This record gives sequence, C-alpha cells and structure tokens, in this order.
Amino acid sequence: MDAPCGMADKAMLRALRGDQPARPPIWLMRQAGRYLPEYRATRAQAGSFLDLCYNPELATEVTLQPIRRFGFDAAILFADILLLPQALGQKLWFAEGEGPRLEPIAEAGDLERLNPVEAIHETLAPVYETVNRLSGALPAETTLIGFAGAPWTVATYMVAGRGGLDQAPARKWLYSDPAGFMKLIDILTEATTAYLLRQIEAGAEVVKVFDSWAGALAPDQFRTYAVEPLRKITAAIKAAHPQIPVIGFPRGAGASYAGFARATGVDAVALDSATPEEWARDVLQPDSAVQGNLDPMLLITGGEALTARVERLIEVLGQGPYIFNLGHGITPEADPAHVEALVRVVKG
Ligand code: CP3
Repeated sequence: MDAPCGMADKAMLRALRGDQPARPPIWLMRQAGRYLPEYRATRAQAGSFLDLCYNPELATEVTLQPIRRFGFDAAILFADILLLPQALGQKLWFAEGEGPRLEPIAEAGDLERLNPVEAIHETLAPVYETVNRLSGALPAETTLIGFAGAPWTVATYMVAGRGGLDQAPARKWLYSDPAGFMKLIDILTEATTAYLLRQIEAGAEVVKVFDSWAGALAPDQFRTYAVEPLRKITAAIKAAHPQIPVIGFPRGAGASYAGFARATGVDAVALDSATPEEWARDVLQPDSAVQGNLDPMLLITGGEALTARVERLIEVLGQGPYIFNLGHGITPEADPAHVEALVRVVKG
C-alpha cells in the first residue's frame, strides 16, 4: 500500500492498518516502571505515584525513558486507569507496596455522588498536557499511544475499592442489581469516550483500552460488559477520528477472543500469554492485527528460553499484521539487560 509521508510511515501504525512491516514493531506494557532505575529516581523526585501521574514534566520524562534506553516503536502515555474514577470524584490513593485503594461504591445510590462526565477534564488536564508534550518530544518514528481502562475493569476497582483475585464485589452487584450496575458501566463508557477523545485531540495517535479483568466474566456477561461498551467507545472515536486505531485488550477472554475485533470494531487485539499463537494466527489475524503475548516472567529469567519464545512468536504471528508485546505488564523484577536482548532479537 502507498503510504503518505510522515505519520503513516511509522511501523506501529502500518501494522495497525493491516500491513506487514519488514519486522514487527515492538513496545511493552508498563515499559515505564519500577524495573528501571531512572524511573525509580524520577518517581522519588515526584513524591508519589499519583504526583508523578499529574506532573506533565515528570510524566513526560518517564514516558521517554524506555524509548531512549531501548528504542521501542511506541511510547505509552504515563498515567493510570484509575485516574478516571478519581476525576469522577471517587477518592483514590496508593498504599505503599500494596496497590490502589478507592472509597468503594457499593450500590446504585452511590452513583449520585459522582461528578458529571463533563467535570472530569479539570482533574485530567495535566494528563492531556503530558500527551501534548510527548507528541512534540518523541522521535519521528515513535508512535504515541493514549489509553484508558475498559468500563468493566475500572468498575471492578471502583466497587471493590482495591484490586482483588476474583472481582467478587462487582460480580455480586452485577447479579443482584443488573440495572444499577449498568448505570455505572454507562457512566464509565461515556467518561472513557470523552477522556480518550481529549487524549487524541492532545496528540495520541493510537488508543488502547485495557480490560484486564475481562476473564472474570461469563460469556453472556462478556458481551454485555466487555464487548458492548468497547463497541460504543470505538464507534465514537471512529466517528470523530476515523484514522485513529484502537487496540482492545480483553485479558483472559479465552475462546471469547474469537470475533472480538469484529464485534467491537477495534483495529487490533492484545493477547494474554495463555492465548495459543497458532490459534491467534488462524482465528484472530484474519480479522485484525494482533499484539502480544510474551510471558513477562521471561524478562526476569532471560537466556535461551527468552530467545526461543520470541523467535517462535515472530515465526507464527509475523506472517500477518503483528505488534510484538508482552501478555501482561512488565514486572518490577524484570532485568533491563533481558529487555535489551529482547529488542535486539525482534529488531533482527
Ligand atoms: O504501560 C505503561 O508504562 C503506562 C502506564 C500505565 C500504568 N498503569 C502505570 C502504573 C498503564 C497503561 C497502567 C494500566 C493499569 N493500571 C491497568 C491495566 C493494565 C494491567 O496491568 O492489567 C491496571 C489494572 C491498573 C491499576 C493499577 N495501577 C494497579 C493494580 C497498580 C498496582 C500494581 C503495581 O504494579 O504496583 C497500579 C500502579 C501502577 N500503575 C504502577 C505503574 C508504573 C506502579 C506504581 C509505582 O510506581 O509504584
């Protein structure tokens, strides 16, 4: 396909359009993070994780750190999926060494206390400023990814007030009061759309929607709470910005990955590490680009096992539109030297 000069030549954008660049583009989920000493230093300078998210100068710096060090093909905005509930008025804090905490929303009546969707932009203005700075600071070949959590995944944190193993509080609400729970999903669908549109207006070239707990949903619920909200979000984005690709990540979806791209309208699906690559090639790649799905553990252990797995993924998925990534976020224990080795293998 003839690509116009500039933005459309970027390897990441070509893969998202369904082309096959000479080698797959690569970036990693959580590529800015605690495994990098320079991240830990900037985070200490910012004070706390949330202070870092809302500081455009420092959030820009930590977004750029892995680009400078490893030359990834894409940079993902440094922020968090839980900034949106905070912008909706829910109290959010990060307990040191434990993860996020929110004042739980337990029933439909609690939704009355949330801010109207138009009010989110005041809190989120520093995030848009970070996107704006990044779009001027990135190398010409690097694609800027904006993101948000999917309504279901964000709802699981809003309802439980914390991360958990089984998303039980949200699932209990969903069974006991489906109409009330749907109000929360609808609010989040509208707010997520507004948030992503602003990121695009500030310079994001791709947006990714993280549904990290999609695997907790039964198949009919998956359609209602994972597919349908993302279909609405994607349709609204495409209506305003038809050229902006959307990546969906229904982590743990299993057999429900089949048909997900067609049903939601996304341009790419991100695969978790349990998704077989041959199945993804045969069943998913005819519909959309795929992204993934190296086990993040291999970046702790490295060596021959890492190289062999990377080569296998490229051999199978590199026959179609493919973006190299992990199956979930990089861990704080990852060794930067193994990340460097990974990039060397992918870039040939
Ligand atoms: O990928 C990137 O580098 C961009 C930034 C980014 C972060 N979080 C920064 C972060 C992105 C895209 C996210 C997404 C996110 N946040 C998800 C979806 C993806 C996934 O991992 O499933 C979820 C569920 C969250 C919520 C969240 N944020 C949790 C549960 C935690 C605690 C767990 C942990 O790793 O500490 C966070 C904290 C968080 N978000 C960190 C970072 C770099 C670590 C905070 C720190 O520096 O102390």
